[in-house]
Order: sequence, then C-alpha cells, then structure tokens
Amino acid sequence: MARRDPHSYADDAQVETASFALTASVDFATRTITGEVTLTFKAPGRGPLDLDTRDLTIERVVDATGRVLPFVLHPPEAYVGARLAIELTDATPSITIRYHTSPEASALQWLTPAQTRGGVQPYLFSQCQAIHTRSLVPVQDTPRLRVRYTAALTVPSELVAVMAAADRGKTVDGARTTYRFEMPQAIPPYLFAFAVGDLASRELSARCRVWAEPAVVDAAAYEFADVEAMITAAEALFGPYDWERFDILTMPPSFPYGGMENPRLTFLTPTLLAGDRSLVSVVAHELAHSWTGNLVTNANAEHFWLNEGFTMYAERRITEALDGADLASLSAALGRRELDESIARFADRPAMTKLRTHLEGIDPDECYSLIPYEKGYFFLCAIEAHVGRPAFSAWLRTYLDTFRFGAITTEDFEAHLEAGLPGALAAVDARQWIDGEGIPASAAAPRSSKLDAIEALAGGVPARDVGEAWSATEWSLYLETVPRPAAEATCRALADDHGLTASHNYDVLVGWLTLALQSGYLAVVPRALQVVADVGRMKYLRPLYTALAADPRTRDQAIAAYAQHRDAYHPIARSMVESVLAKNASSASQ
Ligand code: BES
Ligand code: ZN
Repeated sequence: MARRDPHSYADDAQVETASFALTASVDFATRTITGEVTLTFKAPGRGPLDLDTRDLTIERVVDATGRVLPFVLHPPEAYVGARLAIELTDATPSITIRYHTSPEASALQWLTPAQTRGGVQPYLFSQCQAIHTRSLVPVQDTPRLRVRYTAALTVPSELVAVMAAADRGKTVDGARTTYRFEMPQAIPPYLFAFAVGDLASRELSARCRVWAEPAVVDAAAYEFADVEAMITAAEALFGPYDWERFDILTMPPSFPYGGMENPRLTFLTPTLLAGDRSLVSVVAHELAHSWTGNLVTNANAEHFWLNEGFTMYAERRITEALDGADLASLSAALGRRELDESIARFADRPAMTKLRTHLEGIDPDECYSLIPYEKGYFFLCAIEAHVGRPAFSAWLRTYLDTFRFGAITTEDFEAHLEAGLPGALAAVDARQWIDGEGIPASAAAPRSSKLDAIEALAGGVPARDVGEAWSATEWSLYLETVPRPAAEATCRALADDHGLTASHNYDVLVGWLTLALQSGYLAVVPRALQVVADVGRMKYLRPLYTALAADPRTRDQAIAAYAQHRDAYHPIARSMVESVLAKNASSASQ
C-alpha cells in the first residue's frame, strides 16, 4: 500500500473513483447537509477502500447490488480527518454512502440573514481547497485523483443554488427546490464548490455570467464587464479555454480569499468592487488557473507552487497583454516586496520558504503564504530569462498539453523542463530555487519607468497631481516602499492631501492603514476597525490585526474587535486572527 499525499488516506493500491453522483439536501435550521453519494470506480474492484472524511456521520454503505458493506470510521486525526475504511467484499463497480455533515463542516460557512447584504435570507457557501471537500462528501480527497460528478441539491425555494459545474435544470416542489448540476470535466476534488443564497445574475458575454446578491449584482456586472477580453487574451497565450463557461460568483464579505478558481464558476471577494475596475488582476489570476492549476494540478499540497507560481506567471502575462509591460512589472515588483515580507514572517520556520515543501504533520491552511506564488513566479521568470520569451512560451504550451487534466509533482515538472529546454534547470540553479530556503540572490529585480519614479521619491510624499495620476498598483507599491515608522508629517500629508483614508480600493486603503498604524498615526484607527468589521478577507485582516495588536495603545481594541466580529468571520480567518493576536500577546509578556 502507498499513500502518496500526506493529507489523504487515498491509497494507490486500492480502487480509484472515476465519478460520483451526489444527492443532497441543505437544512439551514440545523446547519447540516444530508446526502447520499454513489462513487463509481474506474474498474470494478474488491478489497479495502479508504476514503477521507471530516466530521461526517456515516449512516450506511451499500454496494452496487444494494448489499450492506462493513465499514469502520477511524478516530479523527487533526485537520486530516477520519479514515473511512470500507471492505469491498465482492468486485463492485460502485458503492453508495448515506451520510450527513456536521454544523462545523470545515468547508462550509453558514451565514445568518444579518451577515448578508440583503439581510433577509440566509446564505451558504463552500471553500474546499486545500483539504475540506472531505467535510462535505466522503471521497478520495487528493488532487491526484480527478473525478467527474453530478449533483442534485435541494434547498429552500426562496433561495438559488449555484455550483462550479454545468446547470442541468431545477424542479420546484413547493417549499423545496432541487437544482441539478453536472461536472463533465474531471476535476481534483478540491475544486468541488457551490453556494446557496438570494442570488441574481447578469450576462457579461456568451460564456460569462456574474452572480451576486441582488443589491450588488449591477456593481459586479460593471466591475467585471471586461472579462471576455481577458479570456480572449488568455486563450491567445495558453490555448483554448477548456471549461466552456467562465461564470463569476461575487461572494459575501466574509469570503476569506480574494478569489477561488472553482471551475466554470470563479468565486470572488466583494472587496474587488472598487467601482473603477482597478482590482481585476484577481479575475485574471483566477482565470489563469483554468490552465495552470485546473488543467495541470499539483499532485498534493507539497507541490502547491506548481499551481500558484505558474498562475502568477500566467496572470502577469495576461496583465502584460491587456495593460502593457510596465504595469506587469509593477505587479511583479509588488510581488517581490510581498515575497520578502512573507519570507521574513517565516523566519522561525525557514523550511516553509522552499518551493517544494514537506508537509507531513502540517496543515496546509496553517502554512499558507504568498511564498509559493511569488517565489514560484520569480523562478519561472529566471528560466524564461535564460531561454528567452519565445522558447519559454513554446515550452509552456507543451507543458499544458502534456499534463492537461493531470496532476504532477515538482519532479515531473523538472523532467519535462529538462526534456524541452535541456540545461535550463542547471543554468538557473533550480535546486537552490526548489529545495533551498529564501530567495536566490540571482532573482531578477523587476524594472519599469513607473517603478523608477516611485523609488526616486525614496519614501517622500508625491505631489498632489502625481498621486492623482497614479494607478492603484502604483499607490500600493509606493506605500510598500515608505520606511516605517513614517514621520507624522508624511502620514498627515498622505491622509489630508491624498485622501487615502477614503480610498475605495481596498488594496490601497489597507496598504495605507497598515503603514499609518505601524507609524503610530492613530487617527486611522476608526477606519481600520471599520475595515475589520466590514470584510473577512484574510489578506486585509492579517496586516490590520497585526498592526493593531503590535501597538500597546491599540492592542485592546484589536482584541475587542475580534471578539465582536469573530462569529462573522470564516473559520479559517478566525484561526489566522487568533494566531496573530496570540503572537502579539506573547511578545508583550516577554
Ligand atoms: N487558489 C487560491 C486560493 C486558495 C489557495 C484557497 C489555497 C485555499 C487554499 C486562489 O487562486 C488565490 O490564489 N487567491 C489569491 C488571489 C491573488 C493571489 C491574486 C487571494 O485569495 O488573495
Ligand atoms: Zn491562485
């Protein structure tokens, strides 16, 4: 027997699931889903079968003939969950499991009506990456094993169910409505996703529709109006879009990520609704995953950089195609700043700064950072710089073609690169990038005239007309370059002359609030507290809570704010904020 994923009980000596058919009923009163799932195997099999589960109650397991099968639900392991061991007594093509989820299912956030924009209906959404699918469905929850699926979701008739799958119609039965879906393309289980709420939609193009609560759907349609142009640009770079539709679901504010590349239905934070389309690089990022990540997937979380590093590269190629090389370089320069910060944050766990990680005993959520994203990006740029853009682009197309609808390891990537671009790995010292800590000194420094202009300010305040002409990316980058603590006069000028405290762009706003808090400019505290009340995106909660908790004058306010908003945050955001607050409490007691 061999388990090839430290976060899954899937065993490659056992039968493999080819597809599943799920029938599930969503109950907002008990915050549970009652389901029946039929797993169909690639070939009929017998013998032991280990499935991943987390907080599931298993009621019954039967084989294809309806015969009850013996099973053992082992004691749960932290975050990995409980092994469901089933004995396939005779060769069987499929099994059917009846089960229900727990109100604590880690993939789900159940929102009360008060936690939604509309305030009238409840809302439910899933977030399965990296290893939460098992809290919704008993499956072989490892990205190496792709599955197709069908799903029938029964929900209250006042609500709409959407899924990262093809719409196959609905049946209204009085107070309950059943929505049917089919995922015709095989996906790694972490891309299973759905949401249920008061949802409306707008058409953006023949293959794009945006969903959101009715109160924000027009704003979302405006913000994401150019998505078809993005898809066209991406197809020119990476080949045909293979998922038929690229719909968007604008999430409730508590969605903990910027975006999630659920196939056919990308989930996006509502913090992107700046009103001026200035944050759509996140859309480019999630779209890019349609090739890098969803077509070619990391075999397990130890190779996560293959998903995110390639996607940062693809995202910036899309940005370059649509907005020019200067803007793409600015984005890369910002990425380099964020990479340095992330590496500093992991100073006490340097092994986490390798591209290829070793995650036995480590929760992938807990070690999440931008390191695989940006270090991966700069590694790919190093290869590109060595072989030249045309050769690298051509190689990338062969990579996507060779591994499409597959899942690979870093070693598979290396072998494919060596075969297509012999000598490139050695020339860029790939071992150092992949297995070394930190960032190789040879990493390229992104350059652009806009970046030069920002650096020339050396942290000084830009003139009013200069700042007015800056894009949000320039502002974000500028704010990163201001040394901390900044002088009070600098903070006052940024607040008063440039109006940053009133910025509608959350990246700029939070960049500014963080700088101000780190500089002891406490006039921004009310705005910072408002942001942590309005938004559950971890990218914003982390720096704001960190800065608030680091200053003895605002630490108690951070603790009080968290106590007040805890219930509204997604569980994964709760753990993150708790660890930030705990770290600062301990440094205070030293
Ligand atoms: N797939 C990720 C989000 C994710 C990663 C969720 C790991 C759970 C576990 C998504 O594509 C992503 O990277 N989102 C970023 C976008 C940004 C880098 C443009 C985010 O949420 O900030
Ligand atoms: Zn991503």
